[in-house]
Amino acid sequence: MIPTPTTARRATAVAARATDLSKVYGQGETRVVALDRVTVEFPQGEFTAIMGPSGSGKSTLMHCVAGLDTFSGGSARIGDTELGSLKDKQLTQLRRDKIGFIFQAFNLLPTLTALENITLPMDIAGRKPDRQWMDRVIDMVGLSGRLGHRPAQLSGGQQQRVAVARALASRPEIIFGDEPTGNLDSRSGAEVLGFLRNSVRELGQTVVMVTHDPVAASYADRVIFLADGRIVDEMLAPTADGVLDRMKEFDTKGRTS
Ligand SMILES: Nc1ncnc2c1ncn2[C@@H]1O[C@H](COP(=O)(O)OP(=O)(O)O)[C@@H](O)[C@H]1O
Ligand SMILES: [Mg+2]
Repeated sequence: MIPTPTTARRATAVAARATDLSKVYGQGETRVVALDRVTVEFPQGEFTAIMGPSGSGKSTLMHCVAGLDTFSGGSARIGDTELGSLKDKQLTQLRRDKIGFIFQAFNLLPTLTALENITLPMDIAGRKPDRQWMDRVIDMVGLSGRLGHRPAQLSGGQQQRVAVARALASRPEIIFGDEPTGNLDSRSGAEVLGFLRNSVRELGQTVVMVTHDPVAASYADRVIFLADGRIVDEMLAPTADGVLDRMKEFDTKGRTS
């Protein structure tokens, strides 16, 4: 029997993974173990949030798995590609071709219009945007009327919507966001989170988002909790209250131990 695409995908496909991943900064007295043998999978078509106290290694984990930083031990993969075996140039190419990024600071080019910013990564890669897909993405983030505007003519929420559309434009294997709503008011933040969730539910995207906000995490399918460079817990179908309670538990444990 031929399995349906959905079951086949669910059973096996992993968009990115870390295995025994370690990252050490500095040496001697300044030595910091930012990641301590972290093993985690990010399944295709899932929205994962990474949470944990400040300094727990969230950004480091994301940067290592996304090929933005080197690691000290273990392995990181995007699809079937082992990042540790790639040269700088190959890593740059992999990031460009397979990964979408959304950062806290929107990272748009001020001289380009919204549309030019959205298509820039593909223009650099020499790839032609799929017109139908682009229309769908632009429609989803509600930017149809503002494509000719420059970033300075857009609100923070609108700028981050441009960044979301830019990340989605090339249909990357996976999208990474580091505190993507960190600079937004709660309403704009909720909009951006809604778009990320829709991109997973309706477009089949894979999204991994670092956040310290329980409400943001509640948009995800799964929350991974980090503490001191290790994964200490996981929560499926999270609610904001559930995540908040779990975070409080960390604080209590931290004080008593
Ligand atoms: N470039 C760096 N040099 C030295 N130490 C760093 C560097 N980046 C992060 N660290 C340290 O690694 C640990 C994890 O940092 P980070 O991943 O930024 O945590 P988070 O994103 O959870 O706040 C922290 O102790 C931090 O001080
Ligand atoms: Mg961080």
